[in-house]
Amino acid sequence: MWRAPAAILIALTTATGAIAQTGRAWMDTSLSPDARADLLQAQMTPDESLQLLHGYYGANITFLHVRPVPPEYRDVLPGTAGYVPGIARLGIPDLIETDAGEGIANSVDMRPDDRATALPSGLAAAATWNPELVSRVGAVLGTEACNRGFNVVLDGGLNLARDAAGGRTFEYAGEDPLLAGTTAGAMVAGIQSQHVISTLKHFAFNDQETGRFYVDARIGESAARESDLLAFEIAIEKGKPGAIMCAYNRYNGAYVCENDFLLNKVLKQDWKFPGWILSDWGAVHSTVGAANAGLDQESASRFDGADFFATPLRQALADGTISEDRLRDMTHRILREMFAKGLFDYPPTKSASDMAADAAVAEQEAEEAITLLKNEGGILPLASKVRSIAIIGSHADLGVLSGAGSSQVLPLGYSSADSFPVGGAAVPRTGGMPGPIGLAIYDPPSPLSAMRAAFSDARIRFVEGENISEAVRLARGSEIAVIFAHQWRTEGRDVPDLSLRGNQDALINAVASANPRTVVVLETGGAVLMPWISKVPAVIEAWYPGSGGANAIARVLSGVANPSGRLPITFPLSAAQLPRPVIVQSNEVNYIEGSDVGYKWFERQNLQPLFPFGFGLSYTTFQISDLQAQGGKSITTSATVTNTGSRAGLATVEFYATPPGATKRLVGWKKIDLQPGESKPVDVVVDPRLLAHFDESNDVWRVQSGDYNVVAGFSSDKPSSSVSVALAESELDP
Ligand code: BGC
Repeated sequence: MWRAPAAILIALTTATGAIAQTGRAWMDTSLSPDARADLLQAQMTPDESLQLLHGYYGANITFLHVRPVPPEYRDVLPGTAGYVPGIARLGIPDLIETDAGEGIANSVDMRPDDRATALPSGLAAAATWNPELVSRVGAVLGTEACNRGFNVVLDGGLNLARDAAGGRTFEYAGEDPLLAGTTAGAMVAGIQSQHVISTLKHFAFNDQETGRFYVDARIGESAARESDLLAFEIAIEKGKPGAIMCAYNRYNGAYVCENDFLLNKVLKQDWKFPGWILSDWGAVHSTVGAANAGLDQESASRFDGADFFATPLRQALADGTISEDRLRDMTHRILREMFAKGLFDYPPTKSASDMAADAAVAEQEAEEAITLLKNEGGILPLASKVRSIAIIGSHADLGVLSGAGSSQVLPLGYSSADSFPVGGAAVPRTGGMPGPIGLAIYDPPSPLSAMRAAFSDARIRFVEGENISEAVRLARGSEIAVIFAHQWRTEGRDVPDLSLRGNQDALINAVASANPRTVVVLETGGAVLMPWISKVPAVIEAWYPGSGGANAIARVLSGVANPSGRLPITFPLSAAQLPRPVIVQSNEVNYIEGSDVGYKWFERQNLQPLFPFGFGLSYTTFQISDLQAQGGKSITTSATVTNTGSRAGLATVEFYATPPGATKRLVGWKKIDLQPGESKPVDVVVDPRLLAHFDESNDVWRVQSGDYNVVAGFSSDKPSSSVSVALAESELDP
């Protein structure tokens, strides 16, 4: 029988009047989350403890490969991704979980008429290089979740972009551990500022969709710790998520949701993660193996082969294969986070969101994410006196493209006329997304209407571009041609290659030949190839920009806004430059690049990409001077940045360091506002883990002694200045 520790007994006896009257001493907010959880656990029956460990799919929808919802729950399901019934007797709220990779999701219209703010994708968030802004976006997600009665948000996503064709690259935060970890951490912190729990996912190495339910990601511990795991570690430190979702795939042989090394050793022992680990939908394969490896809660068990954490868990407790201590720990982790993040004290209430305020944040994020990749002859911003513009392609008369899968938002103003079937109905079962999700949804308002508002004196006409001759005619008869090109990505399948689908490359070639003043606007969920790049003077990457996208694009094209996005991923010249030119189809993927993901791989192989990580232009110019670096336990580096052009703009100064014999790593950045002619100092104190090698035999991070090259610049490949700094050898705990 569990006995309350002395401190808790004292708390019980000193609980305030109201609390004492209700008998709910755990509602005393002056106690720590752990103490409150202990008090509550002391009142729970074993069945009640077990109840919290087993979740339901939150909607009464039948998919091909999942078991039906039990009848007793059909009427209470909240119409969302996940549902764990609470315990009314003790005032434990239900956990009501929503996806949120691009806003509050409603992927298969499970809540008819619920339309949310479509936010830019995770990759767009990373392209802002602005964690403060990302955290405000997180607060929008948190509020829109609360206002729908949800208290668990299944977002920050941050699997590293190891394969450029990855289907979910758009949901994640790029290829670099520091940028991805900082971005996802900021998102989590913003979400949780609204008293809801955020769930970092998918831990770990869910870096491709092909075979995602079983593919075995093979990578040694050192390389793992220095790459994907480091990204998670940083995000956890910065965001303190209440929960972490373990991934579908295997890591070095064992399914991640029953991977003792990843869950027990790395997350819980080394990183001291106090929250709970919940499974991805259909990622559990056992009861005893999973629970003893560290899984705390089975989500939506109808997606699994059995209800592993229901009756079989009770049985395992009875026969002692899972200990009572472990059961207590599982329940404790959930309850302590529910207390820590405010789920007991600030229950969500259904109410209307301030959609105008949310739209303003969405638009600012979309604008800061837009990355200007090419601007020859200063064609952009377009002159305000332009008389005629041809808008071509990608349903720019309807909206901007969004990514698909469980993160799919049905945006404000959405109608089914804004969605188009993609690539036929058949979605490979290995990816496992249900049929209705094979739709490309365009978030209104339309770029066409935004451009008409921004250039009210110009004649602006649109063609879809299916008929290339018609597009060429329109381009020829217009001063400027703006072609919208898109690449649709979805959870559940990777893109077949990095080419724009359909006739888009031919369309861009033909239009650029007809009108040399052609601007390409990309709406993509990752890198694409640009065989036409030398023919077009200007390209902007708008990502999946959400409801604010159309206005943001028009503001950038018209120069009301100065673009400041920077690439969070490398754009290769060809797939042949990648560690895996095609996505691995077999049961095992060997990450031969190790921790040299993205730009580090390009440096190691001495390859020039089409556009490097960190790259992005502005309508003004910046210069870096006075780069300095001091050694010690780590590196402190500083520089001065000056706006040398004639427009105000946001400069992003990126600092990279190269340890002896290794590739360079992003070690920090500062994004700052500069008026023309203005200079500002910028500095960064480097997290020593970014400089270190993980010594797996001794279980420590090791910063080796020697000279470290430190550079500052505006992209990963062309430093503006460099200095060298000597460090002595040091060690850090994992
Ligand atoms: C996805 C998760 C998502 C869950 C619930 C899974 O298929 O991998 O990211 O949170 O579904 O919708």
